Amino acid sequence: DNVDYGGGPSIGHGGHGGTSVDDLRGPRTGKPNKAFTLTAKNATVRLSSGTEIKALTYNGQSPGPELRVREGDLVEVTLHNEIPDENVTIHWHGLDVPNGEDGVAGATQNAVEPGGSFTYRFIAEQVGTFWYHTHQNPLEAIRRGLFGALIVEPRDGPPPGERDFVVQAHEWRTPDDNIVSFGTSDTLQRQEVAPGTPVRLRLINTDNNPSTDSRPRALTVNGTPVRVAAIDGVDVNGPTPLTDPRFGLATGGRYDVTFTMPAGPVRLTDLANRDGGLVLAPPGDTSTPKIVDDGDHFDPLSYGSGGSRPFDAGSSYDRSFTQLLDDRLSFYNGGLHLVPIINGHSFPDTPTLMVRMDDVVKVRIVNRSHQNHPMHLHGHHALVLSRNGVRATGSPWWIDSLDVIPGEIYEIGFKADNPGLWMDHCHNLDHAANGMVMHLAYE
Ligand code: C2O
Ligand code: CU
Repeated sequence: DNVDYGGGPSIGHGGHGGTSVDDLRGPRTGKPNKAFTLTAKNATVRLSSGTEIKALTYNGQSPGPELRVREGDLVEVTLHNEIPDENVTIHWHGLDVPNGEDGVAGATQNAVEPGGSFTYRFIAEQVGTFWYHTHQNPLEAIRRGLFGALIVEPRDGPPPGERDFVVQAHEWRTPDDNIVSFGTSDTLQRQEVAPGTPVRLRLINTDNNPSTDSRPRALTVNGTPVRVAAIDGVDVNGPTPLTDPRFGLATGGRYDVTFTMPAGPVRLTDLANRDGGLVLAPPGDTSTPKIVDDGDHFDPLSYGSGGSRPFDAGSSYDRSFTQLLDDRLSFYNGGLHLVPIINGHSFPDTPTLMVRMDDVVKVRIVNRSHQNHPMHLHGHHALVLSRNGVRATGSPWWIDSLDVIPGEIYEIGFKADNPGLWMDHCHNLDHAANGMVMHLAYE
């Protein structure tokens, strides 16, 4: 039951508006600054509790190897597929690469079959926290382990002395359980950090969170005030300190949380697994902060201060589009099911948002359904303009993954500056597999 995200024979290799996806690749020549090989294979992954997971992995581990590069690097990643019965790709979630490097099976490339290979090459132009995952049968294959972190450090390196911790919130499935973890840690982990050290937690939500019905991950940090330094890989301007915040991290989304290590321990917790989490403690300190779970809900709409907005809710736009998220009852597999729809249709019958190069585009996302939809736009970062009619204030809030709850209306804007055929879909991959997928295409 693989999902084919191609829209038909004219898309992908047949050319689109006279341009073939093969013309939309990254630099094909030149020596890469960073080269990686990722081999998809079956492997057994052991969680910190001892539970063993029969996983799909890159290089025998899940999360896959952390890919850490510098801004401006030419990055080359060679994918080999050694899984006997699965096709795979790699999508660079949140990194706005050229279309031909985007890794969407059936749209920007053919899936890599068992025994096959594909080489991705792109320049890492954005600094920040990203992740990668397969984009073939993603519902099952990401869930089972085909994902990892992609970190782009600033050209001149990270802030001096900074220690960063990549935290990938994931839910593993065993035949009778869902296990809420950070990477492979489902029990409490401790790390020593000297007081005074600048710390960055790179929080990534790699999952659709079935145990919370695909609502955002509820995370909290206790022990010291923290700032949200970046959202979806884009720096926040003027981030203010938050005490015991509750973060709702959208599926696919990332928050970089920073603080200076205090004299006592700091704890990061996923509220769906209070026995797990990460404690950073000064050397010799064996105490554990208690979990405070009733802190203020972090709201990016009004967080931070100032910064330049190339457009806002009052600007005029070259294109405006309303994306109406809803569901309809449908009979299949011997029963009635709610099928998520966009503008009345399931993929491949959903509309395509057509744009011209350099258009400034406004999208109104209306959620009339009964479920959260973490919407993910490929190839572009969008600026949140308003939510439920309230304009965004504070720092510009740039997203590639936006959780939209039932009843909400968001307006987002983006510049069409990356030609190709792009996906715009719900990252609750269950919904995507059921048709909550549309395309953005350039005329
Ligand atoms: Cu994280 Cu279309 O994907
Ligand atoms: Cu959804």
